Amino acid sequence: MNSKLNILEQKKAEALLGGGQKRIDAQHKKGKLTARERIHFLLDEGSFEEIGMLVTHRSNDFGLEKEKYLGDGVVTGYGTVNGRLTYVFSQDFTVFGGSLSETHAEKICKIMDLAMQNGAPVIGLNDSGGARIQEGVVSLGGYADIFYRNVRSSGVIPQLSGIMGPCAGGAVYSPAITDFILMVESTSYMFVTGPNVVKTVTHEEVTSEELGGAMTHASKSGVTHFACANEIEAINHIKQLLSYMPQNCEEDAPSVPYEMGNETRTVLNSIIPDNANQPYDMREVIEGVIDENSFLEVHKHFAENIVVGFARLAGKSIGIVANQPAVLAGVLDIHSTTKAARFVRFCDSFNIPLLVFEDVPGFYQVQIKSGMRLSLTAQNYYTPSAKQQFQELQ
Ligand code: HXC
Repeated sequence: MNSKLNILEQKKAEALLGGGQKRIDAQHKKGKLTARERIHFLLDEGSFEEIGMLVTHRSNDFGLEKEKYLGDGVVTGYGTVNGRLTYVFSQDFTVFGGSLSETHAEKICKIMDLAMQNGAPVIGLNDSGGARIQEGVVSLGGYADIFYRNVRSSGVIPQLSGIMGPCAGGAVYSPAITDFILMVESTSYMFVTGPNVVKTVTHEEVTSEELGGAMTHASKSGVTHFACANEIEAINHIKQLLSYMPQNCEEDAPSVPYEMGNETRTVLNSIIPDNANQPYDMREVIEGVIDENSFLEVHKHFAENIVVGFARLAGKSIGIVANQPAVLAGVLDIHSTTKAARFVRFCDSFNIPLLVFEDVPGFYQVQIKSGMRLSLTAQNYYTPSAKQQFQELQ
């Protein structure tokens, strides 16, 4: 009996090392944390219960039968964040670059199923090169199972994704359909495939940063909601985000204690300029209304002509949607409407009341050659010739 327990302890110790000390050192050298370190910083101390620690892959192709790592490249389980139940998976780049095998996918699906059954958020810490190439179609099938669960969970439990390393292929398709995405500047990337493959296939030279860096997705594509300076900041943002959300769509978000002081908020008397053409920063209005230091801006660098984010009013969680006269006079365009709609949908699903600040000159319009003025947001409804004219202008 004792010897069996010893074997178990040995196996657990081996699992803790993932792909081995050498690869852990390489991960640290790149300025990245390991999968387990990330969980350590995310969850309340001592709360983590791991599931599937000794799982290995089932593949016998391309020499994989000789290369097995306990846990198979993903650490999964549950614990608490500020005392609230949370399910988590954290991909281990030291094992086949965190790539997704059939069993790796099964571990993630189990966590997603448990999160749904118990009505708790699921957090993915992604650091993966995508489908495990050696496994072929069973790996792709694993992604289908994950995407299915992403869709089923949408609007039912919060789904948050931290992009913590170079993520490619399926490793970004799933996070991209979750509720909130956080990236780390300089060490995390989201792309369909990396710059080397892009160069081979299209002969185009592009840097990782341009192709799928944090600021590219935070400001251009809008895929990521937060670009964080480092991993710890990203993890702290995840915790902060969770604090505004309920556990699931049937609950209310937690409130924080609030004492009504002798607040006059005189700053609000002079923010709006007398001259209607003079811009002002709507953030000052927001800050002037909500509980002090409670604003967490979402999508800060994307479509800056609208401001969205979470805040608290008398200790209660609210969502803010506000036109921003300081950028493009606060007009509405495709990106700003999409940004606001995504945020409103989330708040609607999770019983978070909205506070809307409106000061908008209308929809962004473009002057096209014929002299017609057309709304950018209505492009799809144009006649083919108008559409062509519009495209020529781009
Ligand atoms: C198997 C992989 C892998 C993968 C990386 N590795 N990606 N193994 N399958 N998808 C392995 C590498 O061979 C290497 O192993 C180790 O992980 C670290 O990788 P490096 O390339 O050394 O790291 P880095 O230079 O940081 O580059 C990371 C990377 C790059 C940008 C992610 O590895 C890359 O471009 N990988 C391929 C990405 C890709 O095209 N994925 C798409 C898969 S298809 P050793 O043993 O040397 O340490 C897909 C479709 C899904 O996902 C469709 C769903 C329906």
